[in-house]
Parts: sequence; structure tokens; C-alpha cells
Amino acid sequence: MRKAVIPVAGLGTRFLPATKATPKEMLPVVDKPAIQYVVEEAVRAGFHDLLMITGRNKRPLEDHFDRVPFLEETLEAKGDHEKLAAVRQASSLADIHFVRQGDPKGLGHAVLRARSHVGNEPFAVLLGDDLIHEQDEILQAMVRVQEETGGSVVALLEVNPAEVSAYGCADIVPSTDEDYVTVHGLVEKPDVADAPSNLAVIGRYVLHPRVFDVLEETPAGRGGEIQLTDALQTLATAEGEGSGVYGVIFRGRRFDTGDKLSYLKAVFTMALEREDLGPALKQWLDSQKTSVV
Ligand code: UTP
Repeated sequence: MRKAVIPVAGLGTRFLPATKATPKEMLPVVDKPAIQYVVEEAVRAGFHDLLMITGRNKRPLEDHFDRVPFLEETLEAKGDHEKLAAVRQASSLADIHFVRQGDPKGLGHAVLRARSHVGNEPFAVLLGDDLIHEQDEILQAMVRVQEETGGSVVALLEVNPAEVSAYGCADIVPSTDEDYVTVHGLVEKPDVADAPSNLAVIGRYVLHPRVFDVLEETPAGRGGEIQLTDALQTLATAEGEGSGVYGVIFRGRRFDTGDKLSYLKAVFTMALEREDLGPALKQWLDSQKTSVV
């Protein structure tokens, strides 16, 4: 499995006005845009052919992963090798392709735009605003489960029951294999009282290409958008090749960089771990605590 799809065409309304002219995926998490963490994660998991589903005003994403000869020459002339390496790294990570979604008609619609690039092979989907800590890898485990089951695989996170209405939610039965669960049903953003569990679907998927046929037939659902969750619900109850949906439970650190509070947590977590910033930031945070008390 080599191909991964990264949808980044969403409007980012939760982060307005910052995202009026800047894609939310370009917001910096310390000194790298959020999207670079996602691309690096895909590459670490063995995906070297990436397709980003973009939209209007997402040009900075293309620029970020392109070469900038003038900047590189300037840094080289100055002998600033550290910054030069940082600048070059983003443009040498992977083979990155771009296609526009046109109308942002939902995540399912965005994934369907990848059909001709992906072809008839299983592929990964990484949402561009979901940041998973690099020490808490999950994609490789999901690839193994896809290969073992032949179906599609979602990543599930246990959340507070009150929070489940912000996510797609999974109805599961444990499987005989400890590494994954079988998903019987999926509901997009259910009311808390109707939620089948507190297992939320987060932004990593490994999908069988049959999902494309299903998406073609999937009508607009919640919010008038074509929902990937609805297509997966169909696959969960279908029969034959490529049917079945399985879940890998993620127990690590994950941030939604399209949400203000989660974004701030991502920035603090990453900064506190850095040798050049962590100690000073921690000292300042401790001093704030004392002064508030
Ligand atoms: P979100 O639910 O976060 O929506 O999309 P959004 O529009 O990006 O942000 P808000 O809610 O308005 O703040 C989840 C993922 O699906 C992609 C987004 O880019 C994000 O990675 N997406 C969503 C698309 O690519 N196209 C769409 O039509 C909708």
C-alpha cells in the first residue's frame, strides 16, 4: 500500500477569522505548519504517494511542499545550514499531488475525488487537521488489519460520552483478535442519547477501493454533505469483496488542529517537548500558576 489521500478542502469555519485567507492546515504548531506533521506521519508509515484534496485559497499548501530556490540560495550564501535543511525537508518528503474538490460537498465527496488517482487498491486517508503525536503511531496497525480482513479500517478513540456528538460514532463488537474490533454500524454526530458507544471515529482510515462505488451512490446526509461515515455504514453491512468495517482503538495523543482549544494543546505539547523551548516555557507556565494562585 503506497497511496494516501489527505483531504484539506474544508472551510475551517471554527477557526475564523484566522482561516479567512489562510488554510487552517497552515497554522503553525510551534514552527511547522500542522499539515507537515500529517505528511510526515504518512511517510513514516510507508506512504510515499500522497494526494491532497484541496480547494480555493489552499494554495499555500502547495507552496509549502514546493522548492523555493531563491530562499534556499539565500540561506546557503549565509551558511545557515540548519534552516536550509528545514526548508528543503518539506519539499523532499514525498511525491505529493493535488486535486481540487470544486464544491466542498463533504468528506465523502472529497475522498471520491481521489478515485482515478488511487485506482483499484486499498489506500489510507489522513485528515489534514488531525494531528497524531509521532510517538503514538496507529496507521501501520490499521494497514495490517486491512490486509488481514480485506475490509476497511477506521481509527477509534474513547471520548467522554458528552463529546460524542462532535464525531462519527461506532457501534462495535469485540473480535477474537485483540488488535481490532468489528464495526456493525456508524452514526455521524449522533445526539448523546442516541450514541451507540463512546467510541469516536478520528481522522485516519485505511479503505478498500469498493468505498468509491458506495460513495458514488451515497446521497447527501447530515448537514447536506456527502458523509464518508454513511458510505462506511453501507460497507459495514454489505457482503462480498471489500465489505466489512473494522476499528483499531487509538490510545495515544491526538489533536484536532481545526478546534481552537485542541490546537493550543497541540502547540503546548510539542513546545514543551522541545529542548530549545520546553524548559523556558515550562518555567513561565509554572510562574503563571503561582501568580494566579
Ligand atoms: P471538518 O468537519 O473539520 O470541516 O472536516 P471543515 O470545513 O474543515 O472545518 P470547520 O468545521 O468548518 O471548522 C473534516 C476534514 O474533511 C475535510 C476537511 O478539510 C477536514 O480535513 N473536508 C471536509 C473536505 O476536504 N471537503 C469537504 O467538503 C469537507
